[in-house]
Amino acid sequence: MSDRERWGTRIGLVLAMAGNAVGLGNFLRFPVQAAQNGGGTFMIPYFISFLILGIPLMWIEWGIGRYGGSFGHGSVPGMFDRLTDQKKKWAKYLGVMGVVMPLVVFIYYTFIVSWMLAMSFFSLTGDYFGLRDIDEMRGYLGSFQNIFDSSYSGPLVTLFFFAITFIFLGWVLRRGLSGGIEKLALIGMPILFVFAFVLMWRVLTLPTMAASPADGLNFIWNPDWSSLGNAKVWLAAAGQMFFTLSVGMGSIHCYASYVKRDEDIALTGLSTAATNEFAEVVLGGTIAIPAAVVFFGVTGATAIANGGAFDLGIVAMAVVFQGLPGPEILGKLVAFLWFFLLFIAGITSSVALASPTIAFLQDEMQFTRKKAAAMVTAIALALGLFIIIFFRNGALDEWDYWAGTFGLVVFAAIEIVLFAYVFGIDRGWDELHRGADIKIPAFYKPVMKYVTPLFLFTLLGWWGATEALPTLLMQKVDDPSQIPYLWLSRGVMVALLVIGTILIKRSWARKAGEEA
Ligand code: PHE
Repeated sequence: MSDRERWGTRIGLVLAMAGNAVGLGNFLRFPVQAAQNGGGTFMIPYFISFLILGIPLMWIEWGIGRYGGSFGHGSVPGMFDRLTDQKKKWAKYLGVMGVVMPLVVFIYYTFIVSWMLAMSFFSLTGDYFGLRDIDEMRGYLGSFQNIFDSSYSGPLVTLFFFAITFIFLGWVLRRGLSGGIEKLALIGMPILFVFAFVLMWRVLTLPTMAASPADGLNFIWNPDWSSLGNAKVWLAAAGQMFFTLSVGMGSIHCYASYVKRDEDIALTGLSTAATNEFAEVVLGGTIAIPAAVVFFGVTGATAIANGGAFDLGIVAMAVVFQGLPGPEILGKLVAFLWFFLLFIAGITSSVALASPTIAFLQDEMQFTRKKAAAMVTAIALALGLFIIIFFRNGALDEWDYWAGTFGLVVFAAIEIVLFAYVFGIDRGWDELHRGADIKIPAFYKPVMKYVTPLFLFTLLGWWGATEALPTLLMQKVDDPSQIPYLWLSRGVMVALLVIGTILIKRSWARKAGEEA
């Protein structure tokens, strides 16, 4: 398939992949997960998950992606089909997850990204300056998130930022791979790193208030070995590893499908994982947590993190910026840096989440890039309205749970079996090394064949029994009035899976017809 789009340059590929992985997960989700699970306590299972889950899956997904791409497939259905040498007709249907999950996450994730754009704008205007109390600030954010609550901003403000974020994304996607996605990363990623360093420096030079910046660092860096026996911490750590590295989704595969067949993936894949971890642990870990600890103390910061997913990175940080020493204008600028950093991190991940669906429409349904981009933007705007309307009924959390948390483990378990057993680990190993600039350490071969699958299936079993099954049966709902809306949200995901399956069936039937 010579007419397939390609990455323009190697640095472009590296930055695009880093942009894919480095996202809200690094700067918003990681600090909350770490703080909720005891800081240093969290870091041990986290690093172990990186070594035996994150890194092997990253390589495997690059391998599957480049291999599938060499047959002209940029999305997982076609890739799984090729892994099984097409004798097994079922494999492509399993791949539907690798199109629907990223699409679902794309929609709510980009809605969150639009909050970051709004927050950076309102930092500069100083709109929320004066709300110096956590509860007040929570109310401010809440009234932005929920269009039915107009205590601060009315519904139009929310819809406005939502619309410009999606339209901007649609424009980037329409410009294509090297002209759109790669360019966005080439511009965005350096800015992101510069902003992160400035913010890190600002936090580390804070005067001691409720605690010192060093207390904040100690909090994440004092490991507590006794946590190794706590299964909940393991689930949180593994879940974070999936989300932050973008593995278990179909998105890494899609980007890797545009790499030439004999171009290195071993070293580039590893650099993606390493860059992400640097951004997460060093940058992500040195901004929100120490800042919150300085202002609110370890106990206060932990309590804030336990309050909700956005309380630490958005609400607490917005209060922190107002209390920075020095003139208020500086506080506004620092606030802008933080929220705009989040916006950039999020937007480069958003394009990665939209890409599998675009590739599916292009490769399997013969859409042009422009038509595919327009289609995905339209679907996202429509389903985005669904999320906006039902936000207060828990729709976003429901999608996040199935498509953004539990589903990743299911998907990873499927792909590793296909790669290591159906395709075969020996072929797989050779595939990873074709054109490779490094030799992957030999012990990763048995890790991929035995250790990672064992870890994944243990996670699945444990998670499934203690969490996913009760959640599925609605046993974990605090507010019973939400139940119909949660079913509705699930219904949308199921409908997308059904539509995807039908499209796969049709597309393969058509191709079979053309060949005959
Ligand atoms: N890794 C991204 C983050 O940390 C999220 C993401 C997941 C992006 C899966 C693409 C695919 O925010």
